[in-house]
Amino acid sequence: MSSNPPKLLDGNALAALWKQKIKVACAAFDQKPCLAAVLVGSDGASQSYVQFKMKDCQEVGFQSKLIQLPENTSQASLLQTIEDLNKDASVHGYIVQLPLPKHIDEQTIVAAIDPTKDVDGFHPLHAGRLMLGRPGFVPATPWGIVAMIDHYNIPTEGAEIAIIGRSHIVGRPLSVLLSSSPKNGTVTLLHSKSKNLKEHCLRADILIAALGKPGFVTADMVKQGAVVIDVGTTRVQDHSIARGWRLKGDVDFEQVAPKTKAISPVPGGVGPMTRIGLLHNTLEAYKTFNP
Ligand code: GUN
Repeated sequence: MSSNPPKLLDGNALAALWKQKIKVACAAFDQKPCLAAVLVGSDGASQSYVQFKMKDCQEVGFQSKLIQLPENTSQASLLQTIEDLNKDASVHGYIVQLPLPKHIDEQTIVAAIDPTKDVDGFHPLHAGRLMLGRPGFVPATPWGIVAMIDHYNIPTEGAEIAIIGRSHIVGRPLSVLLSSSPKNGTVTLLHSKSKNLKEHCLRADILIAALGKPGFVTADMVKQGAVVIDVGTTRVQDHSIARGWRLKGDVDFEQVAPKTKAISPVPGGVGPMTRIGLLHNTLEAYKTFNP
């Protein structure tokens, strides 16, 4: 057992600080930054994520625009929407919510977004810049996790950092950020084919779970006194709540928390900081248009 209770990495409180900072910056502009979001289809989780992003814009004084397209939208039609957004001078940044319906090729869509407006940071140009340590839009979730590590002064230099999950949205870019200067961590990027996953996790000073499997990380996988960051947000059935579901992270919080020095909860951990990442990138995109 840990001698001290774990510190909660409070994403809600940190996001509130950032929102205030962005709101103050926004108040100084005559013309307001504008974020657009394209949502194809009617997936419940995607719909609520996009609604949150639009609400965040309103809270900090940004303009926002939601473009909702039906599930059967063709790839050609979505590419036309993207071309229109690329040309629309009133939109400073935009996102295409993923996943897209199966008949649309995500990589083709992401590559068509004007990199100067790609506030998700998913375009190959930004992925390349991240790899090379050059300025570009950093994807929102890795950005939010690094902001959290900075805020709570979690030491990374020379630290053993294990990341479970190698997605283009979270694990892979995060592995680059945390292994590069100035973070200088020793990063192990784990995935579904990794052997001895538990042993790798047990070495970690910082363990980051981003695989999308609720409750995957159990106490026997965590070193005493480690910092644990939970990126998972899966909807699981819960009939004790009127809506019938709740969010569950990739970490078995109850079991794992007592072993940790610090741990992020779900909800209220990485999720709110991901949303700040998007606002931050939108502000940067706006400044590029209005230097
Ligand atoms: N789907 C899950 N996370 C994200 C994200 O950060 N951006 C977009 N566009 N889609 C997502």
